[in-house]
Amino acid sequence: MPATLRTRVAIVGAGPAGLLLAALLRRDGIDSIVVDTRSREEIERTIRAGILEQGTVDVLRDLGGTRVDTVGHRHDGIELRWDGVGHRIDFAGLVGRGVWLYPQHEVLIDLVAALLADGADLRFGTTALGVDGAESGEPVLRARDAGGEPVEIRADVVVGADGSRSVVRGAVTGSATGGHFREYPFAWFGILCEAPPSAPELIYSTSERGFALISQRSPSVQRMYLQCEPELDPEAMSEREVWDELQARVGGGLHEGPIFQRDVLRFRSFVAHALRRGRAFLVGDAAHTVPPTGAKGMNLAVADVVVLHRAIAAFCADGSEAAFDDYQATVSRRIWKAQHFSWWMTQMLHAAPDASEFDERRRIGELESIAASPAGSAYLAEAYTGWPLEPPA
Ligand code: DHB
Repeated sequence: MPATLRTRVAIVGAGPAGLLLAALLRRDGIDSIVVDTRSREEIERTIRAGILEQGTVDVLRDLGGTRVDTVGHRHDGIELRWDGVGHRIDFAGLVGRGVWLYPQHEVLIDLVAALLADGADLRFGTTALGVDGAESGEPVLRARDAGGEPVEIRADVVVGADGSRSVVRGAVTGSATGGHFREYPFAWFGILCEAPPSAPELIYSTSERGFALISQRSPSVQRMYLQCEPELDPEAMSEREVWDELQARVGGGLHEGPIFQRDVLRFRSFVAHALRRGRAFLVGDAAHTVPPTGAKGMNLAVADVVVLHRAIAAFCADGSEAAFDDYQATVSRRIWKAQHFSWWMTQMLHAAPDASEFDERRRIGELESIAASPAGSAYLAEAYTGWPLEPPA
């Protein structure tokens, strides 16, 4: 017989979406159990994107315990670069908003520390197996605990915050993969290196050799990406080759240093056909995936969680399920805007392998018309810094 636990909200996944939801619920006095198959160390070490929208930062600050203002850096713009020439998009001047460079794993370190200090029930090493009774009043999350023993968590609500290979998705959509899907014929080869920053803001550079993104992590660690083939072996290039390629794609001027981490990021767009079934919900990457250009992934997860948190709080206050009924329609508006923005930034900055001369000239024309137009630049600034959270935070 599996051990049986009871909580109000069973959350699968201790990434940004799951931990943030647990923290917001805890502030309201609503108990939850968070399970994740990974260890705390693995979660806190995994390298992901580094850009937080203004609204994401507002939510984290409001919650307390974030180091975004001491360790993070506010950026008031980005540079778009082509033919080796930069064009700044002035977020602050165009829309009065900014973004913060504060890596995702730092957000996770803050949230785990705050939750554990507050006595929250986080179960690392616990593997979710499936959800039964999504359409009943008490769905059950089946899992295997860190010792390999079966456990059942009975809850009012089960939330799948368990990433692109979500286990909860099957209970919501009826299949493990059901959704709208698009794959891109390129990827990013990402590195972390020990070097000082090469520029005060991020550089999105497109060139005849392909795209490169110059991002940052800290005064002594930088994050950079090269457009590559999806099947590239991250160890295939020597450090010299990586630096030569990066320098060539941005027109030179990068500070070089030892490369200590390499990975390849696939480019995919995905939105699940359903985001809710009865009392089971999907948030974050379990619900949708965006290609990395524009760094919308974690921010979109936060936006989902803000909406779902309010719906759960309303339910716990008076049993009302009206906000549950609105969840999918409400979050879908932002999800599809973010899908469009991520697709648009991606296609504007990357040449497809089969691009014709016309395609390439049109693409540069598009960059010119965005960078040279206050209206075009304002759309980019508005989307990049993030639309106001709905309902307003
Ligand atoms: C980073 C990643 C992105 O996808 C992006 O658009 C900007 C920055 C990053 O990892 O720093």
